[in-house]
Amino acid sequence: MSASVEQRPPGVGSGPDEVIRTEQLTKVYPGDIRAVDGLDLSVQRGEIFGLLGPNGAGKTTTAGMLTTRVIPTGGRAFVGGVDVVAHPTAAKQVIGVVPQTNTLDRALTVWENLYFHGRFFGMGAKTSKTEATRLLEQFRLADRAEAPVLALSGGMAQRLMVARAIMHQPAILFLDEPTAGLDPQSRIALWDILGELHAAGQTILLTTHYMEEADELCNRLAIIDRGKLLALDTPAALKQSVGIDAMVTVTAAGDLDQLANVLRDEIPNATTVDHSDGVVRMGVRQIQGVLPKVVEAAERHGFSVSDLSSTEPTLETVFINLTGKDLRE
Ligand SMILES: Nc1ncnc2c1ncn2[C@@H]1O[C@H](COP(=O)(O)OP(=O)(O)OP(=O)(O)O)[C@@H](O)[C@H]1O
Ligand SMILES: [Mg+2]
Repeated sequence: MSASVEQRPPGVGSGPDEVIRTEQLTKVYPGDIRAVDGLDLSVQRGEIFGLLGPNGAGKTTTAGMLTTRVIPTGGRAFVGGVDVVAHPTAAKQVIGVVPQTNTLDRALTVWENLYFHGRFFGMGAKTSKTEATRLLEQFRLADRAEAPVLALSGGMAQRLMVARAIMHQPAILFLDEPTAGLDPQSRIALWDILGELHAAGQTILLTTHYMEEADELCNRLAIIDRGKLLALDTPAALKQSVGIDAMVTVTAAGDLDQLANVLRDEIPNATTVDHSDGVVRMGVRQIQGVLPKVVEAAERHGFSVSDLSSTEPTLETVFINLTGKDLRE
């Protein structure tokens, strides 16, 4: 970053450890599509911060504005104290980006993808060489150094994209849906790598629509839907905010509207009761003794319960509570 770059204006920001800040950040696409609508975020140094939301929530658009690829139509955004609209070139120096699609250079080998990225970011030939080699070790790709990138599996390609993104030691690493489409084993390998980077102090912003991923990886997360911030906290605090002990799922044949009404009337600890996809879901404040009562009430009204389960609240529960709909829909 050059010394002449204007830093965050006085009065904006909250402390030296704030590395991402948005103020009423907004993107309206042509056709009056409000992809991001007045978003206020603050991410601290060293955090893994998540943007969690369903398809079309505005995650990629938000990440796009923070990484200078999308021009905001309103509000402001700063990365590492740099205004992304006023100083996009300086902003690019402090960020590393892993986009939603594979952008590796197919004309180059695995090692060369790293080496030339380093050179492009102004690293000397010698440093770029040693860093490329070191990163391939760190990302368990050393034995593929000379391979063409087309020969990599999806998981390996994704790891190489992450290695490339951190090559120039960016203050913030952005990952858009980093594990979408990966098999479970590759997903866990990537989670491990992100955990290692986090332990080494790397600030990471990731978008995801996998609640398990957000729960597992993120220190804090913002739940967004239709471009708006619905909640922002640690995964534990978000789950606690729902105010229930357990989510009970009841599978039965017949009129589930009626079954939901029965449970609403007869289970005193129930907070919310609704149904979709052939199951009734019920939030419960005190779970002790509830499950036998559910079966008894259902059977008394002529329902035969084929499956019954109880789980602790998840981020899915939080999302349902906030929006009345399923994250997966
Ligand atoms: N270039 C564009 N032009 C017009 N509309 C767009 C454009 N890009 C995104 N949108 C719209 O903006 C909204 C937010 O899209 P965005 O891609 O940011 O969501 P997302 O949360 O990343 O979704 P996904 O989980 O599918 O990746 C959607 O309604 C989308 O159709
Ligand atoms: Mg997206």
